Amino acid sequence: MPSYDLLFLPGDGIGPEVMAEVARVVEWINKRGTATFNMETDLVGGCAYDAHGEAIADETVDKALKADSVLLGAVGGPKWDDVPYEARPEAGLLRLRKDLELFANLRPAICYPALAAASSLKQDLVEGLDVMIVRELTGGVYFGEPKEITDLGDGQKRAVDTQVYETYEIERICRVAFDLAKKRGNLVHSAEKRNVMKSGVLWNEVATRVHAEEFPEVELQHILADNCAMQLVRNPKQFDVLVTDNLFGDILSDCAAMLTGSLGMLPSASLGAEDDNGKRKSLYEPVHGSAPDIAGQGAANPIATIASYAMALRYTFNMGTEADMVENAIAGVLDKGLRTGDIVGDGGQAIGTQAMGNAILAELDALSS
Ligand code: IPM
Ligand code: MG
Repeated sequence: MPSYDLLFLPGDGIGPEVMAEVARVVEWINKRGTATFNMETDLVGGCAYDAHGEAIADETVDKALKADSVLLGAVGGPKWDDVPYEARPEAGLLRLRKDLELFANLRPAICYPALAAASSLKQDLVEGLDVMIVRELTGGVYFGEPKEITDLGDGQKRAVDTQVYETYEIERICRVAFDLAKKRGNLVHSAEKRNVMKSGVLWNEVATRVHAEEFPEVELQHILADNCAMQLVRNPKQFDVLVTDNLFGDILSDCAAMLTGSLGMLPSASLGAEDDNGKRKSLYEPVHGSAPDIAGQGAANPIATIASYAMALRYTFNMGTEADMVENAIAGVLDKGLRTGDIVGDGGQAIGTQAMGNAILAELDALSS
């Protein structure tokens, strides 16, 4: 039986609460006996800063590099508003993405039928929604240099961030998008701002070439990122796979997430390139943040994080049957009307984080008996 090392990085805010429920799902999968996942837990984000003055320790990055996969909760919170910029909680997450070279971020926005009414959009617009956002994750303005604030000496300062992309970075993320589209609806939208940005001009050019040379059978549509934001709320079901850069992907994926009823529902996978053995480095995390306003109350929705583990089962461990089971258990619980506060809607009765975890485990038992 295969045995895998999973590094758990619960992080801050609601991170530890939702990750505790994932650990129970992992134990459930272990008991099935198709694979064993060894879980080790470490610090990232504000909690790492509190422990050793930086958002992630070198030893933790080493562990992440060696692990078969990493599961992360969330980082950040107002408590760390005043820590030095280099040590802010988000820096831990960004370092992991960069050091593990996780350039491909997959953010599926799926509207569970039971939640169509919880969306802020009209039900018929989102019912059956299934969009895959493919966000470039290790380049662009997040990492481009120079990135600095200069004191101009006359009471003025100048801040610079640099949006930079090279051909290979656009090629590899476009390939991921086209590959995914072939297994889905065969349509890719590529979003950039070629009308204002040179990086958008190059993005458009490279996407067009990769498409023509390698994926002519997939349909490619170019779309300006601002129009894309508008189309996502006007008619989201026109999209299948949406590929875009790091910053636009950050924004558009929050927007797409909300279509599904709640940010608390959305998982994500961050993947590196395939090595010689066909293996990719990977990190799985919910799209939502640390939600400091509800942290410690046992009220957070653990579904996005549990669904992130399901993505790990599917994309990293090739355990599609188990991934289906976890996803079906989530859908089953929602069908039964069980809701955490973020998806409960008016007049409903919300359950807590642990109760949602219990319900998903009970559903897994039911599905496997
Ligand atoms: C995300 C988050 C991060 C990002 C933050 C926490 C640095 O918003 O994963 O979408 O901007 O990438
Ligand atoms: Mg974001």
